[in-house]
Amino acid sequence: MIYLDNAATTFPKPPQVLRAMTGVMERFGANPGRGGHRLALQAGRVVEACREAAAALLGTSPERIIFTRCCTESLNLAILGFVRPGDEVVCSHGEHNAVMRPLARLVAEQSVAVKVLQPGEDGVLSAETLRQALTPRTRLVVLCHASNVTGVVQPMADLGAVCREKGVPLLVDAAQSAGVLEVSLDALNADMVAAPGHKGLLGPHGTGLLALREGIAPAPLMVGGTGSMSESILQPDILPDRYESGTLNLPGIAGLLAGISHLRRHHREIVQREHALNERLRRQLGQLPGVMLLGDEHAPRVAVTSIVPRQGDAGALGDALDRSGVAVRAGLHCAPAIHAWLGTLQSGAVRFSPGMYTTEEEVDGVCALVERLTRHS
Ligand SMILES: Cc1ncc(COP(=O)(O)O)c(C=O)c1O
Repeated sequence: MIYLDNAATTFPKPPQVLRAMTGVMERFGANPGRGGHRLALQAGRVVEACREAAAALLGTSPERIIFTRCCTESLNLAILGFVRPGDEVVCSHGEHNAVMRPLARLVAEQSVAVKVLQPGEDGVLSAETLRQALTPRTRLVVLCHASNVTGVVQPMADLGAVCREKGVPLLVDAAQSAGVLEVSLDALNADMVAAPGHKGLLGPHGTGLLALREGIAPAPLMVGGTGSMSESILQPDILPDRYESGTLNLPGIAGLLAGISHLRRHHREIVQREHALNERLRRQLGQLPGVMLLGDEHAPRVAVTSIVPRQGDAGALGDALDRSGVAVRAGLHCAPAIHAWLGTLQSGAVRFSPGMYTTEEEVDGVCALVERLTRHS
């Protein structure tokens, strides 16, 4: 099988990730932060090492890194925990349902108003559009850093500077950019950054991160046992305990630590490789008469390319690729607003996302296959 669905989750993971996961489970699979025996302490040290590695990446102090199950959970915590009844939230056309659905719930249940900003023709949101949208009622701006449909990257530092200027906190959805682009709070002028552990950071499923700037304190989504201040029935305020009730995903976090460590050593070559593979893919797919390539040619982008067959539907093309041994993602990619903006809400699209283990031969073979499958359309 040729795996071109790395935007959903990276696969395969570096072998060190698998080894780290089985290693902790074989040697000290105790409960981190629960109890003072040496196995629990050893497990706790792995968790703290991963927290430190993530803190260095996201530019905050380790206790302001919150472990979650996925980017969706990080975004839910940031949005549902921060926005209050009657507030206004500003987001963009590029948001994933991981943002749109929590916002829709706030609209329905807490009279929150949501403004969805539209980009220029190149898919890039301008600082001026954002500036004009902000009002004294705006409690939060939520923006997707890199689109999971077109790959287009938003000028987040500039957009964040507008939020700073207006005193409105910015939450960045770094699902497609963490591990690829600079995603520290300072570099993006952000107050919260949500990231999956299982995509560009090369960790396993069931891992996600939320980085909080000092002074930003959403309400926790879940309360319960934290292994600290057990005498109190109230959720502790200390960080990260306030947000991390229940047993942590030790094997996942050990794998994420190995993924981030691998990335630190090989970041430049991985990113260059994925970019070159994606450009190779785009070049070839862009020449096929039977398909339409999505996303502006000149906008900065991550390694994600989507096409729409000129005849037939995206789902059928995705199925045909699967039958021929190619894994892609067809449909709306949980991002209906950008498909509405692209005019592809009815057709959907087929997304190709190469990864660090994809080869040039695989890319060329897949493009030749797409050509055959769409030739008569
Ligand atoms: C832009 C974007 N945001 C959020 C998510 C949700 O990430 P997760 O699957 O880790 O919950 C995704 C996943 O594909 C995404 O592409």
